[in-house]
Amino acid sequence: MTEILEIPGAVDIHVHLRQPGDNKAETIASGTRAALLGGFTAICDMPNNPGRPTWSAHRLIEKQRLIRKSAYVPVGLYAGAQPESNNLDQLPAMAKPAIGLKLYSAPTTGSDKDYTAKDFTKIVSAWHESAPAKPIMLHAGQTNLPGLIELIAGKFGHHLHVCHVNASREVELVEKAKADGLPVTCGVCPHHLFKTSHDPLSEGWFARMKPPLARQEEAEKLFELLVNGAIDIVETDHAPHSAGAKWTAENAGGSCWGVPGIEFALPLLLYQMVKGRISRERLIEITSTKPAKIIGLKLSGSTKVTWQMEIHRIGDEKTRLSGSGWTPYLGKLAAGKVKKVVIGKQVLVADGKIMAKTGRLINRGDQL
Ligand code: NCD
Ligand code: ZN
Ligand code: ZN
Repeated sequence: MTEILEIPGAVDIHVHLRQPGDNKAETIASGTRAALLGGFTAICDMPNNPGRPTWSAHRLIEKQRLIRKSAYVPVGLYAGAQPESNNLDQLPAMAKPAIGLKLYSAPTTGSDKDYTAKDFTKIVSAWHESAPAKPIMLHAGQTNLPGLIELIAGKFGHHLHVCHVNASREVELVEKAKADGLPVTCGVCPHHLFKTSHDPLSEGWFARMKPPLARQEEAEKLFELLVNGAIDIVETDHAPHSAGAKWTAENAGGSCWGVPGIEFALPLLLYQMVKGRISRERLIEITSTKPAKIIGLKLSGSTKVTWQMEIHRIGDEKTRLSGSGWTPYLGKLAAGKVKKVVIGKQVLVADGKIMAKTGRLINRGDQL
């Protein structure tokens, strides 16, 4: 008999579900199904859908309809705005249905420009006015983070969440802002903890994402900063691209940033817990309590995931993979397979099998 672990459902505030749009590697159904079997009971979807960015209230409503129809776990939706999106007039209408605003100040999938804080002043001001309590999520560049902290958290006193930190230097900037009393948080991705800058040498584009993987020493430092509280949460930045698209980038010299990650984020972290490198309490904080707090989601005691805790190697487990059908974590040691998932009174997974889907949208102030 293997040990059973019951913990609160995890909350992932950084996921790319891709639908609707030109990237067909994922759908709302396939991504939320993988999230559910990965131990997540709520996720939040980013606005950079290739060919169909969430830059208007109309696009948000389109996504809401799709979520109601096909989501296995509750989903929150981010609004997007960029200097190039020219959608200032849409921000007031997007403020209500959105769970937050996402900004890209450096090149990645969906936005290929570098910006300075000045370029975002009008957007931040308009969002702050329309949605003072809803966080601004930032994909920062190497040099523009200090200016954007100053603008968003300093000038407007608005909650800024710095996405996917890959360097201790970024965490230092966040810590300094916190010490000054500014409302700033940050998150780290499993790939920046458990993969390193050496991997692209042998995995090519299958190990390339924005921001890039860190050197071994820096990845170890990030894990320490997560354990000691300097990094607030884990976010997966689940960014699926088809194996074919990654392969084409490798062979034809293209670009294709991002890796899937929601299926095995918890098993990778639970393995660290089993090995005594992170406590159960801290694991719950970084995967559930704190991310829920950032988006203003209230967690009831009855939203729980039951894990069967055997140690295993992540294999080609087709049943648990998301839509892109591959994982950057193949062969890694992990712990835990999801046996049961309950959200409130609804049993979504029993005996490892999906029993129901929620089709539910979440927004700030909601209870799970
Ligand atoms: C993400 C994607 O593919 O949407 N890519 C990535 O490399 N992380 C976008 C992002 O989060 O920067
Ligand atoms: Zn990003
Ligand atoms: Zn992302």
